[in-house]
Amino acid sequence: MRINNHIITIFGGTGDLSFRKLLPAFYNLHAGNKLPESFHIVVVGRQDLTTETYRQRLRPWLKEHSRCPIDDESMELYLSYVSYFKMTFTEDEGYPQLKTYFNSLDENARLLYYFAVSPSFFETITYKLKNHGLTHNAKVIIEKPFGNDLVSAIKINQTLTDILGDDNIYRIDHYIAKEMVQNIYTIRFGNALFKEIWGRKAIKSIQISANETVGVESRGTFYEATGALKDMFPNHLLQILSIVTMEEPKSFDAHHIHHQQEKVLEHLDIKNVQEDVIYGQYTQAINSKSYRDEANVSPDSNVETFVALKLAIDNDRWRDVPIYVRTGKRMHKRSTEVVLEFKEELNQTSNLIIIKIQPDEGVYVRFNIKKPGQKNDTETVFMDFCQSCNYENRLNTPEAYERLLHAAMLEDHTLFASFKQVELSWKLAEKIINGTHDNPLYFYEAFTSGPKESYDLLRNDNNDWIDEEVLGELSS
Ligand SMILES: NC(=O)c1ccc[n+]([C@@H]2O[C@H](COP(=O)([O-])OP(=O)(O)OC[C@H]3O[C@@H](n4cnc5c(N)ncnc54)[C@H](OP(=O)(O)O)[C@@H]3O)[C@@H](O)[C@H]2O)c1
Repeated sequence: MRINNHIITIFGGTGDLSFRKLLPAFYNLHAGNKLPESFHIVVVGRQDLTTETYRQRLRPWLKEHSRCPIDDESMELYLSYVSYFKMTFTEDEGYPQLKTYFNSLDENARLLYYFAVSPSFFETITYKLKNHGLTHNAKVIIEKPFGNDLVSAIKINQTLTDILGDDNIYRIDHYIAKEMVQNIYTIRFGNALFKEIWGRKAIKSIQISANETVGVESRGTFYEATGALKDMFPNHLLQILSIVTMEEPKSFDAHHIHHQQEKVLEHLDIKNVQEDVIYGQYTQAINSKSYRDEANVSPDSNVETFVALKLAIDNDRWRDVPIYVRTGKRMHKRSTEVVLEFKEELNQTSNLIIIKIQPDEGVYVRFNIKKPGQKNDTETVFMDFCQSCNYENRLNTPEAYERLLHAAMLEDHTLFASFKQVELSWKLAEKIINGTHDNPLYFYEAFTSGPKESYDLLRNDNNDWIDEEVLGELSS
């Protein structure tokens, strides 16, 4: 499909997200001939830079973070489309010049704004763009978090919708665009083998884990105001959860997919916030600081760097199936995955389907067979499909941000969150936050698997987190 000419303007163009993800992703789209004939990337920042000094700063980031091969010629060609525009976006002053600049580039181009800034600026920038006649023929991509709570999310959404229209708002949650998250549709609905057993008759529990080995790094101020629950739960984790549990959409377009995700989110709940939410915070380990010793973190901070929850979906497919979700920083292993544990047949080890999302991508299936040469003895075996091994260097696998930027240019909303999803997710997150002020905070040593109380959460139900150790034990 042909894409209209675009002027892409990145607010927050001197930030971490722009250097690490956005500008390399646009480079890859350019290298893959996926950008329109006429396109311009205008990077907005308040630092005293020129286009030349900005390009100078960008070169090493492109070299380090581009997926496609990059040589001097391809880099310079791409950079010739990137310009720096110095302005403070909270002041009116720069907007008239920005408009003149756009007209000098291409008067008829579709305007695509990327707000790579804190959500507290989304409304200010949108009002200023409107007041200066810059919202006609325009669309906007906004980064999660979509507000800091339900009230601010509704307010931001109202302003942006009134000015730009809902069809022109693209809410990025880059987990939706991850290869293996998109693959869940095919795994679930494209295989009779899995489709028929995907529900409470066969499944004992669902586990979704998104664990990182990194700590808060330079983002102490942000994290102190956010914590693990707000940072990961109402967005990434609930997106994955709703794709794993939704009913099959009539077709795989944005409208039908969003509708089914929204329906399942409406039935998702937590039964007992005091008992079903476990908070943790990392302490020090060899060569690694405790959370409280990180820069810009209060020495007596009670902000959680880990959370584990037990949820339930009250519908015919999932009634009585516990859904366990956890996320943590400074965990022993970086891994995002979904585990479906099946009910055990008599004296047999339970079957498992594990969808590995990152860093490994693949599908693991565990089942039982008769031991060769024995009459009654069985053993547990597994099949482990490694998708990332099969697509070496991932040259043909667009990374999440590329896929998203390309989709926004094509006006395809499938990979973006609907506002109703955002609203339902914030409602549940707020119920949990407001109901757990008195929940204890458990400390866990950095580079371990989180507080032991998160294991108790599952053991109380006769379940267990399916970690590597458990897999090893059960398979041997
Ligand atoms: N980093 C990630 O991987 C990531 C992932 C998902 C979501 N996000 C979200 O994306 C947003 C941006 O993240 P980030 O990590 O890129 O933040 P960041 O590194 O702090 O960058 C913020 C950018 O906003 C600019 N800015 C702030 N106030 C401004 C003003 N009044 N006028 C002009 N420019 C102004 C800063 O410009 P100066 O250089 O002049 O300060 C900087 O370019 C945040 O909401 C974050 O939560 C980030």
